[in-house]
Formats: sequence, C-alpha cells, structure tokens
Amino acid sequence: MRRGKFITVEGIDGAGKSSHLDFLCACARARGHGVLLTREPGGTPLGEQLRKMVLHQPMHPVAEALLMFGARSVHVTDVIEPALESGTWVVCDRFSDSSFAYQCGGRGLGTHVVAGLEALVHPALQPDATFLFDIDPATAYERQRAQGRAADVFESEQMEFFERVRETYLQRARQQPYRFHIIDASGTLETVRERLAAEFEQTFP
Ligand code: TYD
Repeated sequence: MRRGKFITVEGIDGAGKSSHLDFLCACARARGHGVLLTREPGGTPLGEQLRKMVLHQPMHPVAEALLMFGARSVHVTDVIEPALESGTWVVCDRFSDSSFAYQCGGRGLGTHVVAGLEALVHPALQPDATFLFDIDPATAYERQRAQGRAADVFESEQMEFFERVRETYLQRARQQPYRFHIIDASGTLETVRERLAAEFEQTFP
C-alpha cells in the first residue's frame, strides 16, 4: 500500500482558506485517491473539546501551545497516521505551522519551545505540501467583518498581531520552499481557486 500524501492548509484568520478546502479535496479525489478532510485544533473528540477551550478562553501562550500540541498528539496518532498508512490522502486545515505562526510569531513564544514540542509530538511527520493562503491583514479583517461572526480569542487580536503571524508564515515558507506553496489570497474566490488549482497541478502532476 502506497502511503497517502499529507497536505496542510495555512493562513491568517480571514485569508479565506476554508472556502477552498472542499475544492482541494476534490482535486486529490480526481487523481483517484481516497481523501480525509480534518482540522486543527480539533479532528478528534478530545481535540474538538480542546478547540472550544483555546478559542474562547484567553490563557498564557505556553498553556495555549501545550493544548494545541496535546490535541495534535491525539490527532496524529489516532487519525492522521492511520489514514496515511492506509493510502488515504489527508487534507488538514492548519497544523504545526500555525503554532509557529501564532504562538511564536503572534504571541512571542520562543521558536525553540514550539520546535521542541513538534519534535516530541510528531518527530517523523511533516506535510508533503503546505498551501499558504497569503493576504494582507487589513483585507483579511474586512473579509471577517463582512461575515459578521463573533470573534474568538485570536480573531480579536490587533492588526500588528496578524502582521507578525503573516511574517512568520512567509519566513517559514522561505526556509522550506520545497513544501510551501504560497497562494495569493487577494481577489475573488474564483481567481484564488484558479491559483490554487494551478499550484496543486504543479505539486502533484
Ligand atoms: P480556524 O479553524 O482557521 O478558525 P475558524 O474556525 O475561525 O475558521 O483556526 C482557529 C484558530 O486557532 C486560528 O485563529 C489560529 C489558531 N491556532 C493557533 O493559534 N495555533 C495552532 O497550532 C492552531 C492549529 C490554530
């Protein structure tokens, strides 16, 4: 059995990545693969409970990182690894790059802290491809406002927070160009979808 591909999707809040997840799964399915769509924080019953806590209760950045990685540990061992081993492709809405971007870039936690947690929780697992939806925080903010949903603890942060999160993502993309694919997330849904389709095609020809 050929191991499935692990695809992650990243971006600041309001980048619009959620609108493209089903399309991304359809692209993989069209190549004849079984596909599992999952998300972080979440993806398991425990992870979904932790999600409610971390998204709605402000806490120390260390606690935030530990809960993210606690949820991730169960997600990797119970869901992601078994799926990949059975040949299923896994599309994950956020993974450890979010912890580097939000807990390190956004909250100021040392990179070594998150790198250590990553080495503990998934020493041998990295995404085969990461699609990073990149957008300037002002546009992202406008998009979120237009949706009119109640903001969680991250979405309530100031613009500078998202500048730092974005910069950390871009820095990681520069450091690991072999797996990061930056999608310009400005413009209409259709335009962004076309960019994603082209990038997917190049990544998995
Ligand atoms: P997301 O699912 O994109 O939010 P929404 O349901 O509003 O679309 O992401 C949840 C939030 O969690 C997002 O603001 C980023 C944050 N997050 C971290 O700070 N660290 C992490 O490791 C992960 C996975 C998410």
